[in-house]
Amino acid sequence: MEQTISFTINDEQRTMVIHPGQSLLELIREDLGLTGAKQGCGVGECGACAVLVNGQAVDSCLYLAAWADGKTVVTVEGLSQYGELTNMQKAFVEGGAVQCGFCTPGIIMTATEMEARDRNYTEADIKRALSGHLCRCTGYTKIVEATKKGLENVGKCSCDHE
Ligand code: FES
Ligand code: FES
Repeated sequence: MEQTISFTINDEQRTMVIHPGQSLLELIREDLGLTGAKQGCGVGECGACAVLVNGQAVDSCLYLAAWADGKTVVTVEGLSQYGELTNMQKAFVEGGAVQCGFCTPGIIMTATEMEARDRNYTEADIKRALSGHLCRCTGYTKIVEATKKGLENVGKCSCDHE
């Protein structure tokens, strides 16, 4: 039976009709046309589909759209503010932590969750946090370095203006 849910996505309030068993990833990509979150494995193994739900990174391929009712969802499209990339996004670009880019939106969402928690992360913490993400291109070193760099800039303005 169809169900109506109301939720906030990227600062916009939406009310949508979903079908039974529909994943949040399908809702985001197919119904809302937000294709930043990627459809990789579809079974919770690769992390390419990660989005934030109430501030926590989840694999949206396994997360039922119905569970998003009343919650706040952020996709990679919703991170930049006033056209500026976030410090974490800039750290990935400037650190060359992006090659084909397929894994990047998911990794950025997990790194952004860490950023919001603003803890003193060790390199081991970062590796553990990112362990649910598979990247077929980079070998992970630059990803970990970029995450570290992004976390160093927590709280600093990300704009380039003086
Ligand atoms: S597509 Fe969701 S974890 Fe791989
Ligand atoms: S940059 Fe290609 S899969 Fe990670």
